[in-house]
Amino acid sequence: MSDMIFNVEHVTLRFGGVISLNDVSLHQDRGEILAVIGPNGAGKTSLFNSLTGVYQPQEGTITFVGKNGKPLSIIGRKAYRMANAGVARTFQASRMFSAMTTFENVKIGAESHRGIGVVGAMLRGPATRRDEKHSDARTIELLKFVGLTEKANAISASLSYGDRRRLEIARGLATDPQVLLLDEPAAGTNPSEKQALVKLIRRVRDEMGVTILLIEHDMKLVMALAERIYVLNFGSVIAEGSPDEVRANPVVVEAYLGTSTEEAESK
Ligand SMILES: Nc1ncnc2c1ncn2[C@@H]1O[C@H](COP(=O)(O)OP(=O)(O)OP(=O)(O)O)[C@@H](O)[C@H]1O
Ligand SMILES: [Mg+2]
Repeated sequence: MSDMIFNVEHVTLRFGGVISLNDVSLHQDRGEILAVIGPNGAGKTSLFNSLTGVYQPQEGTITFVGKNGKPLSIIGRKAYRMANAGVARTFQASRMFSAMTTFENVKIGAESHRGIGVVGAMLRGPATRRDEKHSDARTIELLKFVGLTEKANAISASLSYGDRRRLEIARGLATDPQVLLLDEPAAGTNPSEKQALVKLIRRVRDEMGVTILLIEHDMKLVMALAERIYVLNFGSVIAEGSPDEVRANPVVVEAYLGTSTEEAESK
């Protein structure tokens, strides 16, 4: 029996006349590293927004199975409730508090998860000393895990792209998620930072047991990391399979407007 964490069935999402997701069905197993790829505007971020309660598709069902094994219907549920249920994400465009230090950015993640809320966490008002200690310890642990201990007191805006991406992953992990959704985690990074990200993301799954759902344009990274891939084009799933299957699928090659996936990989 498979152990599903997400099950998406016949989901359609429209904005006026624009169909962002068109009868999308897909699933993810717990512990799996799954990638969603596709050209610009294919619906990848819309899918993430639908999985996190930000968008409310008009048709279909989305089920998330949390740690207690109880299926939770996502559509109609608020984003903060999905976060509390164990779904964490990073954003395509970086959303950290850039005037804060690395340490503060991760700590806010840890505290908002402990029911203090982002504003409360910032004001430090209702945090009891014990909560505060716990958040500090967790923050230190996570910064070590992602390799940012040395930059704990650096202002986030001063970090390199690679380090910012690590910081965002640490902040996502601060909420102790079951699954981490990464929207283009390698955007803006150089080849060596990309390699380090591949290793880090794999460690998040292997060492922390967090399921990974990944959107990424960089084919090299996708092929190195993903165990299975869905391809979206114009809001529809056009292919699914292992990296080798997807790479060899002529429908996928076509969707990338004549660029072979090998060419795209060498970019
Ligand atoms: N809030 C919104 N209002 C109106 N249209 C939207 C909204 N969100 C997404 N769309 C539309 O849905 C389609 C899919 O967009 P989406 O951002 O999901 O694509 P994507 O695959 O993430 O693209 P990219 O690779 O460029 O990030 C686009 O046509 C987009 O304009
Ligand atoms: Mg996107």
